[in-house]
This record gives sequence, structure tokens and C-alpha cells, in this order.
Amino acid sequence: MSENRDRLIERAGIGLLAIGGLLVLVAVVFGVLIAIGVGDESADPQQPGPAAGEPGGPTLRALAGPRRLLVGAAVPVEALKGDASYARTLAREYNALTPENAMKWDTIHPERNRYDFAPADSIVRFARAHDMAVRGHTLVWYRQVPSWVTDRSWTRPELEQVLHDHIRRVVGHYRGKIAQWDVVNEAFDSEGKLRDSIWMRVIGPEYIDLAFRWAHEADPDAKLFYNDYDLEFPGAKARAVMAFVRDLQRRGVPIDGVGIQAHELTVRPPSRKELQSALRGYAGLGLDVGITELDVGIYLPTSAAKLDEQAAVYSDVLDACLAVSRCGSFVTWGFTDKYSWIPSELPGFGDALPFDANYAPKPAFTALRRGLARGHP
Ligand code: G3I
Repeated sequence: MSENRDRLIERAGIGLLAIGGLLVLVAVVFGVLIAIGVGDESADPQQPGPAAGEPGGPTLRALAGPRRLLVGAAVPVEALKGDASYARTLAREYNALTPENAMKWDTIHPERNRYDFAPADSIVRFARAHDMAVRGHTLVWYRQVPSWVTDRSWTRPELEQVLHDHIRRVVGHYRGKIAQWDVVNEAFDSEGKLRDSIWMRVIGPEYIDLAFRWAHEADPDAKLFYNDYDLEFPGAKARAVMAFVRDLQRRGVPIDGVGIQAHELTVRPPSRKELQSALRGYAGLGLDVGITELDVGIYLPTSAAKLDEQAAVYSDVLDACLAVSRCGSFVTWGFTDKYSWIPSELPGFGDALPFDANYAPKPAFTALRRGLARGHP
């Protein structure tokens, strides 16, 4: 990794130098323009400058749009409801979002005969009001399964019916509003074995085939993804998932893509090579591929050096995605350190996202913007 990161920092250094030189030039030109009074006329009063704390300059979505890249973030419903700075930053910078928890079983289907679409509906409404694509997350997972499912025994046909009803109802409810669905999430453990879950115990591995087929029936236009973590690190799990996805294709299961979550840590980031070969591997199967849950946890306390390391990892992951034409989505698992799962689930780590808790852009944000601007089409 160090060789890549050094090259990245060196490139960042050159980039900085270049930018530094450019800035001096711009400042001189600007100075001259102001001196001769041109600046004033060209300022469009309709286009107010960046609000306090806002980064100014091109937004991530403005740079991602012409690349036809979905640049998005996971959204907790409570942040969208109660935090104006959150909503403004989200709509300004991102052209896509993923409901962080609102579409999971425990929230959307809390009782056998009761669905609660309100939290997810509010997120989807926000997305549509701001011309943002939605990644649906997730139709089948071993976590956040409500007790009405887990705390009783089922026959196979009974649980298949439960799963079929859920997928038909949820996908049907959002038909035409979801660009990509994480149909099945994290079905493999780190040894590369199909993970134990109520779906696996009662239905067997076919629950995966069935879930994709039912999701496709309910919304033939939504792109259907298998989503998992650690696929960017070579090993038993990455091999098993690759083989399994090939099998799904051989069985004619309607899978369109694979989501690489990319939950990273500055202390052990993937190499650019590892990232690209993982992305290229699935693209090589004729599938779309996406970065679906990127964050880069820092071993606290944070320092300027660690923030630069973090920015280098964000840049690596973005560049790897941009280098693979079928990598069409680049989603971070949140965007501000104010709302992140990391501190509660990974004690000692934190500050994992591109904006700090006050919505100030971090070096990681600048790295993403520089990455999207580089070689801008
Ligand atoms: O909704 C309850 C609330 O009623 C209760 O008061 C509160 C206090 O316990 O808990 C709330 O539920 C929490 C839920 O997030 C909603 O905030 C759960 O305890 C908490 O465990 C859950 O954490 C989520 C986690 O998935 C659960 O597995 C994280 O927010 C979410 O970021 C995380 O996301 C996963 C992806 O879906 C899949 N990949 C890994 C990623 C990180 O674990």
C-alpha cells in the first residue's frame, strides 16, 4: 500500500503545487480584473456565494453528473427530519442516496400484517424533490429482522410466502422510484461460507435466487444488486462471492450488479490494485459494480496527518471506481461525522466521513472533488 499512497500523496503534492501555482495566477488575474472594475459586473446577484461553512466551488454532484456517476450518501431519517444544515448539504452535494435503516425489515415491516412506509417515504420524497436517485437497502439480510420473524418456527413454504409477500409489497410500493436495490446483503461470512440466518436455516440457499426473481417481477426496471463487505480484499470470502455470483448468472437469476460496501480503516486500507481488481472482476462478468457504503474510520484521536491518510484512501477508492466504466455508483455511508455508525460499533474509531460534525469539508471531501474534477469530461 505505502507505494501507492506515497504516489498518491506525491500526486496530491504535485496537484497542490499545481493548484497553488494556479491560485497565484488566478489571484493576479482577479486582482487586475477588480482593479479595472470588471469583476463587479460579472457577479450574478442571483447566484449568492457559498453560505458560511459551505465549501464553494463545484459540488460533487455537478462533477459527477457529466460522468453519469451516482455520487451518494446513506441517510438516517432522523437527520433529514430535524437538521436543516444536513438536508441542505445532502441536496447540494449528492445526486443519490440510500436510506440507512428505513427500508430494513425491522422498520418497514415491524409486524406480520403491518408495514410502515412513512420513514422511507419521507426519504424517497426528499430524493425526488432534489432530483436524486435512490438505492434501496435491503430486501433480505440476517440483521435487523423483526422478532415476529425470528421468534417462531416456520415451515419452508410458510417462510417463502412471508419473504415473497415482503419483497412484492416493498418493491411494488417503490416501483419506478428505486434505481438500484440491494436485494441480498452480506449472505457470506468471512470464511466464504453462506452465512447462518433464518432464511438459510428454513429456506436454504435458494432464498437468494428467489429474492432476485421476486424483486425482478415486482419492478423489472430496477437494477438488482448483491451487496457485501470485504470483497475488495483477496481471500476466501471474495473468491466465494465471485463464484456464487457466476453461479447465479449461470442459473439465469436476474442479478444486474454487485455492491462493494468498502467500510475501510486508515490503519489497513485496501490497495488501489486490490480495489481495481475487485471492481474489474465483477465488471468482467458483464455486471454493474458499485461502491455502496464507503467510510474510512480513523483511529482516534484525529490528526492532520490522519486526515490526509483518510483523504488518500477516499481518493484511491474513487479513482478505482472511475477507472472501471461499469462502476456507476459511489456511495458513502453517511457524509457528516455527526451521523455515523462507526463510533457506536467500532469503539476507538471515528471521524470516518468527508464532512466533519459541523458540515465543514475535510481533506477527504477535497480529495473526492479533485478526483471527480480530474480529467473532467
Ligand atoms: O430504531 C431503534 C430505536 O427505536 C432505539 O431507540 C435505538 C436505541 O437502541 O435503536 C434504534 O435502532 C438502531 C438502528 O440502527 C436505527 O438507528 C439499532 O440499535 C442499531 O443497531 C442500527 O444500526 C445500524 C446497523 O446497520 C444495524 O445493523 C446502523 O445505523 C447502520 O449504519 C448499519 O448499516 C449497515 C448496513 O446496513 C449494511 N452494511 C454494514 C453497515 C454498518 O453496520
